[in-house]
Amino acid sequence: MKIIKQIEELRSIIRAWRKEGLTVGLVPTMGYLHEGHKSLIVKAVSENDRVVVSDFVNPTQFGVNEDLSSYPRDIERDAALCQEAGASLIFHPEPEEMYFRDNCTFVDMDGLTKGLCGMTRPTHFRGVCTVVSKLFHIVTPDKAYFGEKDAQQLAVIRRMVRDLNFGITIVGCPIVREKDGLAMSSRNTYLNTEERKAALILHKSLMLGEKMMKAGERDAEIIKAAMVKNMETEPLARIDYVEIVDAETLENVVKIEKPVLTATAVYIGKTRLIDNFGFEL
Ligand code: PAJ
Repeated sequence: MKIIKQIEELRSIIRAWRKEGLTVGLVPTMGYLHEGHKSLIVKAVSENDRVVVSDFVNPTQFGVNEDLSSYPRDIERDAALCQEAGASLIFHPEPEEMYFRDNCTFVDMDGLTKGLCGMTRPTHFRGVCTVVSKLFHIVTPDKAYFGEKDAQQLAVIRRMVRDLNFGITIVGCPIVREKDGLAMSSRNTYLNTEERKAALILHKSLMLGEKMMKAGERDAEIIKAAMVKNMETEPLARIDYVEIVDAETLENVVKIEKPVLTATAVYIGKTRLIDNFGFEL
């Protein structure tokens, strides 16, 4: 598996692919890859002639007190997983390659980025939109693949692509879970044995909410209250948010009448985990 670290080298490889008339898929990641990431890569491989996996812990999307320095990294293991999934190459730049020391240009978005994770992570989506725009410009893919695990991120990227006329097809991919239901995440490695068990509360509460919706409950407050009560039974859990929002605008809903996204962020000890489910009537 070729690991490319320089932007110009990647550009010349992509130019050669284009000359041959090949299609290109992009899977942006921050590395420490797991089966969730792999499902995106496998899908990309099935739909494109060549697939680039970017593996870059993007500093601009971390807040000052967040886990940038401790974020897990293992490029050798990532390379093996990419190879197995059939990717063409990994783009693994250093931060200095991606950002000029005096970089002062960012891609920012109103609206969709303000609620949910944007409440406690006010600069996060500016970093995500900026790095994803840069990757889109560097790789110029036909299609790019994102997980529904980060549902707000997926909605934000779709909107950015629409608003800025990127001309790239965004493909959303379903959440991959551990056998017991915990959504796979690179951050799950932070959990000790006790916390790992406690982390199941996210999935359990979401399943409770989904069950209520399927049974016909349409009052968002009633469903959220039941989910919060359920989460509060887990002493290691501290809720950041439990929200039911419009699936497209991400605005809070009172009554469930259109497709909605039910999303949660919960601290298990020091680790912040997110999960969600979509519901259509
Ligand atoms: P990262 O957290 O590494 O995730 C990379 C991609 O994998 C995202 O699109 C995410 O939604 C998807 N993913 C992660 N866990 C998943 C799971 N359990 N099931 C399905 N898909 C899953 O998201 C980022 O990196 C960054 O913000 C990035 C977009 C790369 C920009 O830096």
